[in-house]
Amino acid sequence: MMTAETAQKIDAIRRERGSDLAILAHHYQTDDVVAHADILGDSLELSRKIASLSARDIVFCGVFFMAETAAMLAAPGQRIHIPAPDAACVMSEMAPAPLVEAVLTRLRQAGRDVLPLTYVNSSAAVKAVVGACGGAVCTSANAPKMLKWALDHGRGVLFLPDKMLGQNTCNTLGVPESARHILDVRGGGSQVDLAAATKAEVLLWPGQCVIHARFKARDIAAIRVQPPEARIVVHPECSPETVSAADAAGSTSFIIKYVAEAPEGSEIVIGTEINLVKRLAKQYQGKKTIRPLALSACSNMAKGTEANLLTTLQNLDTAEPVRVDEAVRAPAALAVTRMLEASA
Ligand code: 13P
Ligand code: SF4
Repeated sequence: MMTAETAQKIDAIRRERGSDLAILAHHYQTDDVVAHADILGDSLELSRKIASLSARDIVFCGVFFMAETAAMLAAPGQRIHIPAPDAACVMSEMAPAPLVEAVLTRLRQAGRDVLPLTYVNSSAAVKAVVGACGGAVCTSANAPKMLKWALDHGRGVLFLPDKMLGQNTCNTLGVPESARHILDVRGGGSQVDLAAATKAEVLLWPGQCVIHARFKARDIAAIRVQPPEARIVVHPECSPETVSAADAAGSTSFIIKYVAEAPEGSEIVIGTEINLVKRLAKQYQGKKTIRPLALSACSNMAKGTEANLLTTLQNLDTAEPVRVDEAVRAPAALAVTRMLEASA
């Protein structure tokens, strides 16, 4: 809960630090936090911003992989801070780096040297594994462009960790279902069906976002029977059934643009994290009706609060900034740079 006193203290530190401080926030952060952000954006926009920031201290309000990505892209001497270092993306944790490495090795031993493409929702260690074998990162905003980039290498692609985004992106590009295979990564990769994995053009890691898995095609079917006609827009981390039942799907910034461009008086139902939906509902109150497809909150995003933002700001010069080991940073940054170049 926002308190006037906390907000005033944050404002005072921001005034005192001036251009030496930049506060970045993801769209899923609460309004209390967003109110203090210099830059608000989706994963791609925030990654793109890092290189252009001259601030010595960058406070990243989001989940840990986002701050870690920022730390990989920061200039020497820049310090990245995260108010809630324990805010882990559950989906990113479904692909631990040693397991990704083990699966890639097993595939290679079976004669399959696929190009890995990792969703930005992954650890720096995974990005390093991907970068070291020529692969790249993608976000929900550029997944079709990056999957096409990866397919053009002609080696077949391992898309990780989100099988939903992978399937939806395959649908966008017209990769037939018969050319996809969802890997079974249990038992350290010992369950991988090598025969199927060798035939498929796109191998999908079996991860998913539990928050977006809650939006069902049947929820959309229920809305379709109610007048008036509502437009339905969802995030591509939703299942392929949900995405194809919706009117549109795209990143958090795409959803914001979709709402902005809808005519006055329209009703828009949104399938993504609740903080963003609530903010849009408030912003367009009286002009457009915005409601959630279902109530689904990311408890890790919610770990970032105005209180821990203040604590972070009060300890900028003493707290340990987010660090990425140099051995990991270089190949991981390469994977991110390939994305920034290929999707510019
Ligand atoms: P965006 O890349 O659309 O901002 O989404 C990030 C995310 O974590 C969605 O769950
Ligand atoms: Fe990760 Fe899902 Fe939360 Fe996004 S909404 S940060 S994908 S757990």
